[in-house]
Amino acid sequence: MKTVASYFRIIGFLFVAFVLIELIVDSGGQMAVIKYPLISVLFGIILLLYIAFEVCIAALKNVLFRGLSPEAQERYLAAEEKRKANQFAGLKRFYKKMLGSKPIEKEHEIILDHNYDGIKELDNNLPPWWIYGFYATIVFAAVYLARYHIFDGTTQAEEYEIEVAEARAAIEEYKRTAKDLVDVNTVVVLTDAADISAGKAVFQTNCVACHKTDGGGGIGPNLTDEYWILGGGIKNIFRTISEGGRDGKGMISWKQDLKPVEMAQVASFILTLQGTTPAEPKAAEGEIWVDPDAPKEDNPQIEEATDSIQVTIN
Ligand code: HEC
Repeated sequence: MKTVASYFRIIGFLFVAFVLIELIVDSGGQMAVIKYPLISVLFGIILLLYIAFEVCIAALKNVLFRGLSPEAQERYLAAEEKRKANQFAGLKRFYKKMLGSKPIEKEHEIILDHNYDGIKELDNNLPPWWIYGFYATIVFAAVYLARYHIFDGTTQAEEYEIEVAEARAAIEEYKRTAKDLVDVNTVVVLTDAADISAGKAVFQTNCVACHKTDGGGGIGPNLTDEYWILGGGIKNIFRTISEGGRDGKGMISWKQDLKPVEMAQVASFILTLQGTTPAEPKAAEGEIWVDPDAPKEDNPQIEEATDSIQVTIN
């Protein structure tokens, strides 16, 4: 007893299951089935179970039908027939109403006097579906007029601007989360405690042999003072770590061993050492580094720095 309805039920059931799973399983922007391929197996099992259920119901009906007396069978079939004929009766009525055409036997009521060589013209009403569509356009026009011409809705140009701004924000957001995208041009000082302690860990593993645990310097220069051989500030420090120091001095390029984000972290950590007093500080090497991008009011700092040169010289 396979019926068309049972196929529809299976498809409908599967659809509901699909929507439910997509709603329940949190899979971010992706579809759950794509993110977790196991879910498709689950679907397969659900489908099989449901088909089995349909088959059981059909078999049960069949058995019950055969158990009936011939007259009862007859009555049952007749009732089924009637039910089928009445299926979608409401829909059919609605369709007829929307068509609004006169039945053929009543056409004489609307026939016009025109007679073109035997071809006659009917004066049918406009079909209701068309008229309702027309009313809908009037309502739409009124809403549109009010929204865009009276209440200043966003124009297409403004919509474009808004979307571009959103896209920019999304790119910024992406860059912030994808820290590994940093390079010497985009690196900024990281201030998160997590980043600093990650940087410290990198420093302890790779750098202390030459720069000492407290950055006081040994083979490598003192990293706690404001004197820099290769330039201070996050960008220069990042570049030194990434590309290495001057040839033959011992500071190798770390970009093969450290990820960009690790270099940014350790560079930020080094900046936190500024001004600390290491146990055995190595004498200053290089020049006092002044950030060329710093705003003008930073000038007092330069004076302070000059003072401290005198202090060290004395
Ligand atoms: C083998 C020893 C050695 C190791 C290991 C080492 N460095 Fe260096 N480092 C040096 C030397 C030597 C210099 C000076 C380079 C120059 O004069 O060109 C230097 C310079 C630097 C500078 C620039 C200092 C300045 O005054 O401009 C920074 C920043 C730096 N190192 C950071 C690190 C970091 C971070 C690590 C670990 C990932 C590290 N170093 C590992 C030896 C080392």
